Amino acid sequence: MTATVWVPCDAAAVSVGADAVADALAAAGATVRRNGSRGMLWLEPLVEVETGAGRVGFATVTPGQAGDLLAGELHDTGQDLGVVDEHPWLARQHRVSFARVGVIEPTDLAAYRAHGGLAGLERALTLTAEEVVREVTDSGLRGRGGAGFPAGIKWETVRTAQADVKFVCCNADEGDSGTFADRMLIEGDPFTLIEGMAIAAVAVGATEGFVYLRSEYPHAIRTLRRAIDIAYAHGLLGGSVLGSGHRFDLDVRVGAGAYICGEETSMLDSLEGKRGEVRAKPPIPALRGLFGKPTVVNNVLTLAAAPMVLADGGAAYAALGTGRSRGTQVFQLGGNVAHGGIVEADFGISLRELVEDFGGGTASGRPVKAVQVGGPLGAYLPPERFDLPMDYEAFAEAGAMVGHGGIVVFDESMDAGAMARFAMEFCAKESCGKCTPCRVGSTRGVEVIDRIRAGTQRESNLVLLEDLCATMAKGSLCAMGGLTPMPVRSALEHWPEDFGVPSPVPSAPLLPPAAFSGDPRNPHSTPEAFSGAAGGSRVEEHDDSATSTDGGARP
Ligand SMILES: Cc1cc2nc3c(=O)[nH]c(=O)nc-3n(C[C@H](O)[C@H](O)[C@H](O)COP(=O)(O)O)c2cc1C
Ligand code: SF4
Repeated sequence: MTATVWVPCDAAAVSVGADAVADALAAAGATVRRNGSRGMLWLEPLVEVETGAGRVGFATVTPGQAGDLLAGELHDTGQDLGVVDEHPWLARQHRVSFARVGVIEPTDLAAYRAHGGLAGLERALTLTAEEVVREVTDSGLRGRGGAGFPAGIKWETVRTAQADVKFVCCNADEGDSGTFADRMLIEGDPFTLIEGMAIAAVAVGATEGFVYLRSEYPHAIRTLRRAIDIAYAHGLLGGSVLGSGHRFDLDVRVGAGAYICGEETSMLDSLEGKRGEVRAKPPIPALRGLFGKPTVVNNVLTLAAAPMVLADGGAAYAALGTGRSRGTQVFQLGGNVAHGGIVEADFGISLRELVEDFGGGTASGRPVKAVQVGGPLGAYLPPERFDLPMDYEAFAEAGAMVGHGGIVVFDESMDAGAMARFAMEFCAKESCGKCTPCRVGSTRGVEVIDRIRAGTQRESNLVLLEDLCATMAKGSLCAMGGLTPMPVRSALEHWPEDFGVPSPVPSAPLLPPAAFSGDPRNPHSTPEAFSGAAGGSRVEEHDDSATSTDGGARP
């Protein structure tokens, strides 16, 4: 009997030789199936062999080991992981959005259905649009793109908007350093995203959708396009979604690669074929989005949560998590970390559990000095802050942000002053140039940090840096300039010695934390403000979070 083996086709596995391993196993006589990655990236290529007890995993398999693997001779090499589902790293997680990733073949629609797929859409089609949105509102689902804005409020605004055409746009730009969950979901289980977008379309009355995917993700582009073709062929997309009479057409648009094109209004400009530049809000995209029509813009993981919310009910999703951070978050461990990859867990898990228990400390073996959470605009946090629970509000109160769930680990060799300089430099390079605090402030920020580090009029330049940070935080049109002070201030607060500053520098609060968090407590984030009804003030016009669908931040 030929052995059946599973070899990931995920880009991370392919980058370390998975295709060659698959070819070698096929040549050695095995039946090779391709799955997504389980997310244990330090073990790739992770090959799974079907056995009576389950799929037994073997880590870091090379093409030269294909014969030995099939002959059962890899058990004593330290590569035998046992039954993969029982591996402690996986067993301790709560995989909801990633339940099928690594388990099924990504474009096998029958397997998708057999593993619970389409139950959410089928249920949504038995409900009214209002009831579908209510389930999402009741679930407490918040945007996973960074700002954490309640998805139900956004969907309700689009649902009640009057227009001949409405759109659902998925933001798969995933520009944050250290983030890869969107890519892995699309490469490993694309039908979950397609189903989530179809649910959103049914809920708000949209007939067309686009996935905005970065050109740096060729595997994801290929897999998603194939999945969309299959979805059309099976009536999941097109003139009558699953025979319901709802039309929903979906296509992929490839971005040329600019961090700012992840900001939702720049993304809409880019989708319209223009240079990506931030639009002033109001009007918000939910009312005037793509081609001026009401548009849902959500991150991949937000939309990918919708099938579970609808299948099990909003209350089941709301039962997970902590405080106002409901459900699970797909954390991404990267940087100098021993065990990098995907950890999906209920909100409330501590940073320490993620970095130390799952991550296993640094890859270099040296002590952890810091982690940066939430992408390049996120705060640097020292180990003393690792008991912080993963919770939008707790992070905001600590002057940090959960963002898209990326956690980048640094060992003691990190130079916090250099990282602060890099934050300003990154902003200068990626700024869309529309507003002065960001366009000019970021360049001045690099210069001021250089002077502080060189010891040139250090005291007055520290005052100047704080003044500059306050101007950028309060005066920028979007969160690109608005949040760049976050990594700068956190680096200066925790490691003043890396700037040549002897005593700790107390951190100034970046902004009222709720302002960039899409926090429902934020008066500017109420449904009224959200719908633009409260417009008029400077903050409402300029604070990305204030009137936007999203809090605008990729925090
Ligand atoms: C500079 C910048 C970059 C951003 N990049 C992304 C991105 O790559 N992906 C994403 O989903 N959201 C990104 N966002 C956030 C989006 O503007 C928006 O909040 C999000 O797509 C809304 O979806 P959500 O409510 O599901 O999070 C970015 C925001 C800013 C300011
Ligand atoms: S803060 Fe201003 S210049 Fe910077 S990216 Fe946003 S809109 Fe453009």
